[in-house]
Amino acid sequence: MRKSRSVFRCTECGAEQPKWAGRCDGCGAWNTLVEEAVGRTGGRAVRQALQTSGSPPVRLSALTSGALPRWRTGLAEFDFVLGGGIVPGSVVLVGGEPGIGKSTLLLQCAARLEAAGVPTLYVSGEESPEQVRLRATRLTEDAGAVHVLGETRLEAIVHHAAALGARVVFVDSIQTTYTEALEGAPGNVGQVRDCAARLMRFAKEAGPAVFLVGHVTKGGGIAGPRTLEHIVDTVLYFEGEATLDHRILRAVKNRFGSVDEIGVFRMTGAGLEPVPDPAAAFLAGRHTGVSGSAVTALMEGTRPVLVEVQALASKAGFGTPQRVATGLDHRRLAVLLAVLERRGGLSFEALDVFVNVTGGVRLAEPSTDLAVLAALVSSVRDRPVPADAVFLGEVGLGGEIRPVAALERRLAEAARQGFRRVFCSARARGAPEGLELVGMEGIGDLARRLAA
Ligand code: TYD
Ligand code: MG
Repeated sequence: MRKSRSVFRCTECGAEQPKWAGRCDGCGAWNTLVEEAVGRTGGRAVRQALQTSGSPPVRLSALTSGALPRWRTGLAEFDFVLGGGIVPGSVVLVGGEPGIGKSTLLLQCAARLEAAGVPTLYVSGEESPEQVRLRATRLTEDAGAVHVLGETRLEAIVHHAAALGARVVFVDSIQTTYTEALEGAPGNVGQVRDCAARLMRFAKEAGPAVFLVGHVTKGGGIAGPRTLEHIVDTVLYFEGEATLDHRILRAVKNRFGSVDEIGVFRMTGAGLEPVPDPAAAFLAGRHTGVSGSAVTALMEGTRPVLVEVQALASKAGFGTPQRVATGLDHRRLAVLLAVLERRGGLSFEALDVFVNVTGGVRLAEPSTDLAVLAALVSSVRDRPVPADAVFLGEVGLGGEIRPVAALERRLAEAARQGFRRVFCSARARGAPEGLELVGMEGIGDLARRLAA
């Protein structure tokens, strides 16, 4: 096969250079040049695209408002995160650390789609078909009908997917896939980007949905190709703690659904199982009556989820006291500690402080501030907060407690899970039946209320 010409493009400024160099001539940035295919292949593809996308412009009003067709896997949490199932022609990147369960999840999906009459192709570049078969024997689903292809050449993958008439193609992983059009080794940024772009074109022209598995590096980005996030339609991250069996599938980008939705699974001996009541899953195993623990309700996409914040303040040894936060930004913890010292009159000067959010959940919204403060106050005083209380509020630098967004849904969930009291801003309104709002102006009120 004839090799197409390639150029090197700077990922910073977009400048094009015929040869690789350590430094970009355009902007002077180092190590930003990435190989890219042009010339024959590119030109033909563009001409083809022009011919096939021959539909003329239309008025928005002339478009039918019919819902997008979707294929459901029946794995409820998976379909939910995608926005109601798999959209034909869409490209979905599934990122996650090695061993978290990406291959398992996608093999289960393939098996379920086959059972529903949707032809699939599972391309495994990392494991042999025999290894995939071994995994399949563990699953609840019968994956016998799934076509498996042990292949890493992109051209061959596209050929077989087209020949098979697969409607959903799983590429495990994008980092092991390479195209003959480029010289670089599989996994380098140029290869990953080009392979993804070609699979994208295949999906848009031939109509199958394509799932790309991407490994996440320790730094958190999908190795090298963060740039893929811009190309694909949907980006899902599969995360969890290695020691816990909960797994969270999170949509960080979704052209066909809401972003930030999560699906919760449990890793069992027979594959991944959707958790039936995700909102309550993270409170399972909570010990009540222990100091340093407070419950809050966060919004994960459109869903409220109740989680427990734990704090432990203990006498510090030598040197600077420690501040360790898991599931919470350490700078946010520093701010909250400073507010508590200055406005709440509690001293942490001689204390090591540890804050932890259970279940591997991250507190990304300020509405959880109040729960962190309540857990800290409770730990310092070694006095549990009321077991039936939920804490909802953002805390300002002046120690003032502000109301939170989506209050109604959070309150409804707290009431449904049997909580009776919500500590919140004095301005909060609209408690459902059976739930009492304990309104507070500032954290001085909080300290007093918790001492009462
Ligand atoms: P895997 O899907 O291979 O992860 P990834 O593709 O993200 O690297 O999952 C591997 C882990 O999951 C491995 O530690 C074994 C475990 N596992 C189970 O606990 N139960 C199962 O039924 C399966 C198939 C795997
Ligand atoms: Mg895998």
